[in-house]
Amino acid sequence: MVKVAPSILSANFAVLGQEINDVIQGGADWIHIDVMDGHFVPNITMGPLVVEAIRPLTDLPLDVHLMIEEPEKYIQDFVKSGADLITVHQEACRHLHRTVYQIKEAGVKAGVAINPATPVEMVREILADVDLVLLMTVNPGFGGQTFIPTVLTKVKRCRQWAEEQGLSHLYLEVDGGVNEHTASLCRQAGANVLVAGSAIFSAADRREAINKIRG
Ligand code: DX5
Ligand code: ZN
Repeated sequence: MVKVAPSILSANFAVLGQEINDVIQGGADWIHIDVMDGHFVPNITMGPLVVEAIRPLTDLPLDVHLMIEEPEKYIQDFVKSGADLITVHQEACRHLHRTVYQIKEAGVKAGVAINPATPVEMVREILADVDLVLLMTVNPGFGGQTFIPTVLTKVKRCRQWAEEQGLSHLYLEVDGGVNEHTASLCRQAGANVLVAGSAIFSAADRREAINKIRG
């Protein structure tokens, strides 16, 4: 079953609670929260306070995507604020295995993300230790960018490794430029969690947008 995770980066922040309720009513499976620090990526967004404010609005899993340097320093804060899944970038972790176990030992699910130009081999040795792999389909930093189709090969390879290793529980997530057309390519390649920001929040009918992405 494919999950759809609306990214609130493209929501109207002046009425964030309303926007979140709207995608919940529309059938969202997870809420995707993009944390940017102005160092790992050239943009600054939100932190644990925003996660804490969202937590009482829903029981849906809060999927926190950390696009920050030294994410290990902030794991505890995001767990306390109510995150259910915490994803760190392989490129930002000097000791990825340690950080993954820091997340798991804090009691939440752990994910590892890689940028479009990072070889998928960089997650191969950590596959059995994580709950989620996030293959970025744009360069992280902004919503509304164009999907990079070469990442689909990485999705296929990662899905194949997961099958070979019997990791049927592994979430294989894609993020960036996902709309009804690219979503179908991602599903075919083996992705089972689809993050979408602008395609959902720019649509007048969020339920329809979510359903089209889910396929
Ligand atoms: C990009 C973020 C994405 C972003 C996706 O750095 O990680 O989650 O919000 O936005 P769209 O779907 O508009 O590409
Ligand atoms: Zn994201």
